[in-house]
Amino acid sequence: MPHRKTVVFDAYGTLFDVAASARLAAAQPGGEALADHWPALAEIWRRKQLEYSWLRTLMQAHADFAEVTADALDYALEALGLHDRTLRALLLALHDRLPLYPEVPQMLATLKSRDLRLAILSNGTPGMLASAMASAQITDAIEMAISIEDAGIYKPAAAAYALVEARLGVARDRVLFVSANGWDVAGASRYGFATVWVNRAGLPMDRLPHGPNHIIPDLARLPVIV
Ligand code: LAC
Repeated sequence: MPHRKTVVFDAYGTLFDVAASARLAAAQPGGEALADHWPALAEIWRRKQLEYSWLRTLMQAHADFAEVTADALDYALEALGLHDRTLRALLLALHDRLPLYPEVPQMLATLKSRDLRLAILSNGTPGMLASAMASAQITDAIEMAISIEDAGIYKPAAAAYALVEARLGVARDRVLFVSANGWDVAGASRYGFATVWVNRAGLPMDRLPHGPNHIIPDLARLPVIV
């Protein structure tokens, strides 16, 4: 069925709650030092993770997302004066099994019942994505998790979005791309996908060329658009 619509999700921040590793670590033995710091840690860690992905792309010095994620965590821990190898290991382990945002399982089930093709396109490595999907029990719901490692370049480079067409055999005008990251939506829109921006935090729109076709506050609203 060549005309079946394909919905492609970003992973971190869109399906998986990226702040959860810092939040959950703070509540675990060994994470006490994070009690007051976990929101700042989550914020700096995520910001540096994304910055390093873009900077390494500009520098033509690619490293995979597992390495970039660990480097960003090291920066964030040092910025907050937290020098603790056990805590570092705990945070990275939790990052490998991040929980879904609460509305995601129902949303995926609804879309699946409509015979849509569902996929992921993420900066994450194949190993990171397999681990996150397995622990969140969505492996069966997702037809394919595409890692930008197959292109060796991070979103929002066009070559990363092109993997969707190549791997799934769909034309770009049949793809609805869903991301909570404004810059990712801009890149996907520029590539030629229809796009949905999940604006969970009520943020202003990024001042980038190519905005979203739809804006929703969380993924519970997605089935209405699709
Ligand atoms: C991803 C990044 C954007 O999952 O979080 O691709």
